[in-house]
Amino acid sequence: MAVSSAADNAAAIDRFLGFWEGNLTPMEAIEGRHAVRSYTDEPIADEAEAALRRAIAIVNDETNLSIQLVLDEPRAFSGFKARLVNFTGARNYLALVGPECKELDGIVGYYGEKLVLLAQSLGLNSCWVGGTYKTVNRSYNVDLGQKLTAVIALGYGTTAGVPHKSKAPDQVCPSYNDAPVWFQRGVDAALLAPTALNRQPFSFSLSGTDDEGTPLVSEHQARRLHADGSRHRPVSFRNRRRGRPLRLGRPLTAARSP
Ligand SMILES: Cc1cc2nc3c(=O)[nH]c(=O)nc-3n(C[C@H](O)[C@H](O)[C@H](O)COP(=O)(O)O)c2cc1C
Repeated sequence: MAVSSAADNAAAIDRFLGFWEGNLTPMEAIEGRHAVRSYTDEPIADEAEAALRRAIAIVNDETNLSIQLVLDEPRAFSGFKARLVNFTGARNYLALVGPECKELDGIVGYYGEKLVLLAQSLGLNSCWVGGTYKTVNRSYNVDLGQKLTAVIALGYGTTAGVPHKSKAPDQVCPSYNDAPVWFQRGVDAALLAPTALNRQPFSFSLSGTDDEGTPLVSEHQARRLHADGSRHRPVSFRNRRRGRPLRLGRPLTAARSP
């Protein structure tokens, strides 16, 4: 495959993200994002809210998820668990709702992080929250057959957060030093991404090329309780590289909240 320029790469990433707005390039957003748990009481700016709503509508339409933006609702972060991890001032969030199925967590992770990076580019801070929040009935819709998997706190942080302690690239990709630059940049980006408890439970390898010469990337997720005793589950990114949407189940007929 021909090595493309940085400008080509940026344009490709923009097309891939589909709804990019704000002041940062995707890579700047990846580098600038850190978990923020303390927020000012400044409401989300109208233009940022509108951009988020547009993006959420695209994601929900593309995937059959039912992600909802919840504003001025502090109760989700008012419980014992939220206090334990020092959440303060959080009152806006994305409720990550989708059809109950085994792919749900993976697809929510993929599209939720796209929305996080958009938020970062719009000047907002964020924090994924899978456990330390309270469910608040009637603040968002969870229809029959759907599930709330996690929330993402959004707002203007009292600080921009700090970089997490990270594994080294060759710990998650033994052939990192011999790999092409585009692949190294992908591994670098993954190491900057948020993971639950900062576990970074993944590794990557290049698995040759397909019939058309397109490089195939494999991701392996560490699974501590894998039924067959193995620690890794290979996942091909082939479909994503071809730009096919990741769509869950049948379309839902129930009304969605705005
Ligand atoms: C799926 C997921 C679930 C998370 N759940 C929580 C949570 O329940 N409470 C919390 O305070 N942080 C949570 N986090 C935030 C992580 O602790 C944080 O992303 C990680 O420590 C890496 O730091 P960074 O986001 O600054 O890069 C979660 C992150 C992810 C990706």
